Amino acid sequence: MAKVRTVFRCSECGATEPKWTGRCGECEAWGSLVEESDGLAPSQSVALPPTTPPIPIGDVDPTEFTPRPTGVGELDRVLGGGLVPGSVTLLGGEPGIGKSTLLLQVAAEVAASGRKVLYISGEESPQQIRLRAERLGAIHPRLWLAAEIGLPQVVGAIDAVQPDVVVVDSIQTLLNPDLSSAPGSVGQVRECSYRLVQEAKRRGCAIILVGHVTKDGSLAGPRVLEHVVDTVLAFEGDRHHALRLLRVIKHRFGSTLELGLFEMTEKGLIGVPDPSGLFLADRRVGIPGSVVVPTIEGHRPLLVEIQVLVASSPLPSPRRSATGIDSGRLSLLLAVLEQRVGVPTSAVDVYALAVGGVKVVEPGVDLALGLAVVSSLTGKPLPGDLVACGEVGLGGELRQVAHTPRRLSEAARLGFRQAVVPTSAPNPPKGIDILRVGTLAEAVDRLGLGRDSAPGPRTGLRSL
Ligand code: TYD
Ligand code: MG
Repeated sequence: MAKVRTVFRCSECGATEPKWTGRCGECEAWGSLVEESDGLAPSQSVALPPTTPPIPIGDVDPTEFTPRPTGVGELDRVLGGGLVPGSVTLLGGEPGIGKSTLLLQVAAEVAASGRKVLYISGEESPQQIRLRAERLGAIHPRLWLAAEIGLPQVVGAIDAVQPDVVVVDSIQTLLNPDLSSAPGSVGQVRECSYRLVQEAKRRGCAIILVGHVTKDGSLAGPRVLEHVVDTVLAFEGDRHHALRLLRVIKHRFGSTLELGLFEMTEKGLIGVPDPSGLFLADRRVGIPGSVVVPTIEGHRPLLVEIQVLVASSPLPSPRRSATGIDSGRLSLLLAVLEQRVGVPTSAVDVYALAVGGVKVVEPGVDLALGLAVVSSLTGKPLPGDLVACGEVGLGGELRQVAHTPRRLSEAARLGFRQAVVPTSAPNPPKGIDILRVGTLAEAVDRLGLGRDSAPGPRTGLRSL
């Protein structure tokens, strides 16, 4: 087979070089050259008959994109029903988070539903995968395995098995021999994913690609990978906790608001259909610095305990540590507390934590976080059956967040009886009383954490 000619294109300015160099000769950007095949046809300007003739929009067959359930409920929920035949889905996640486990379970479920699945691994041997499959109860005659890294061999394996669903674990191990760069390089990942997208469309099989993410959480490989696939899923979680979240970042066939939840167990991943109480299982009430916030993740309400611990700091610039909470939000709240509420926070270390290995990034957590800081500073606990939700502005004012009634209904369902909310919040659902407050300062005051209240026990800090 003749080698395809390759060129190196600068990802900054688009200039091409025949050889790889560290710096683009045109725009002088460093490390921007990426290998690609020089497959341009010479007849770019000639008009050709379209491969599929244009048709009126009403004549398009909508059933072509009907998702088919995988049988893994939480994945089907995220995908809006299941995998669409001919689609390509990218599953990103940090190493060890459980991507291979999830996809092996998905593959076995799909096989059990009567379809053929091919699981291609460039990372593990068939023996290793079989051992894992035995533990997961995922041995099935319609589930086929192949250990390949060469792109032509991968396509050959798809040819041989003719599967309905293909799993490629991972896109970073694939090698297109037409390119001289190593597996996992930008050029390789791009060319291999292009080819697999074409194969999926041509054969009508659904392909799931596994993609590793780098330390900063972005997918290793080019952004173009996210553009060529139909769906991008992110598998997240804290490796020290059992909870795993499956988010949808891009979805050509449905909403990106759904969230899937799993628990990693001895027997693999188990869906968590009713997650709300999950994080509160080991909660102890009556501890200063603890406040529960009803959050919304996708369409799902989740109750999360926010814990804050403050301690007088020996450091000139005290520590601020945020786990599962945006550190920018924490800094902002500490500034608002100092400037608008009169709570001195500049001489204390602050440790803030969303319990259970979950990440709470939405603004609705502000009020709970602010109250938790003050409660920890004063040593006064808040009532155990209280939740707080609202966004805090730079002026210390409170703003309502989306879906407040849904959040409060969920809190009421789990036995919470009081809620602190912004003044504009709608009337509460049955079973929960609300305290409407206009500012963070008012919330602090009305909950008895304020200046006039007696200082709390066991705190060496100034009373407020
Ligand atoms: P894995 O699916 O290999 O992660 P990835 O493909 O994302 O790199 O999962 C790795 C971890 O999951 C591993 O540390 C062990 C754990 N695990 C379980 O806890 N239970 C199980 O049943 C399985 C198969 C794995
Ligand atoms: Mg893996």
